[in-house]
Amino acid sequence: MINVAIDGPAGAGKSTVARAAAKKLGYIYVDTGALYRAVGVNALRNKIETTDAEKVGASLADITVELKFVQGVQHVFLNGDDVSEEIRLPEASMAASNVSAIPAVRAFLFDLQRDIAAKNDCIMDGRDIGTVVLPDAQVKIFLTADDEERAMRRYKELKEKGSEVTFKEVLDDLRIRDYNDSHREIAPLKPAEDSVMINTTGMTLEESINAVIKAVKEKIA
Ligand code: DC
Repeated sequence: MINVAIDGPAGAGKSTVARAAAKKLGYIYVDTGALYRAVGVNALRNKIETTDAEKVGASLADITVELKFVQGVQHVFLNGDDVSEEIRLPEASMAASNVSAIPAVRAFLFDLQRDIAAKNDCIMDGRDIGTVVLPDAQVKIFLTADDEERAMRRYKELKEKGSEVTFKEVLDDLRIRDYNDSHREIAPLKPAEDSVMINTTGMTLEESINAVIKAVKEKIA
């Protein structure tokens, strides 16, 4: 199977770019952030403090998280409920970042990610795909952009959905998540040694997609 790992900070455009590149290459696209978001949503629903490692860890015994691909589109299920929309709420982002620092959560989601990659040609995106989940991926990409540009992209997305957030709130949130994601003890966000670095600051979406496809083609040619 061909496995492409794409890691990078929040808002770098990983999901949009990876989804489009996967479509062009005929691979499935796996968004692993959705899994951490589902665990975060479960904590929010049950009023469990998302930074409480013990309680969040204990909650894992009662939940199932699954990914299903409906016509190539990923849906995430929490205890059998399709939570693909709910996981995109802003509170789910911070909850996901918090629960993702808990080792039991990462262990809980590990096999699921490995199994999908073992059975499918895929582009998998996340924070630790090239470093931890798929260290043998044929292609590893670290996709990033300046934080103000990432925040602006996220801000526009949220505004389009009718959200009342301010740009500053989005930027502050993103900086906190960047800090959390790259400073946690377990599987912190960092480029794999053998990754191709792509900085999309100032690039159009089309240019970013082409840069990813080019990197994949160069590695697997
Ligand atoms: O990519 P995203 O914004 O949907 O991810 C949500 C959170 O999940 C992010 O703040 C960090 C965490 N995450 C992770 O720790 N490891 C992954 N492979 C994917 C996401």
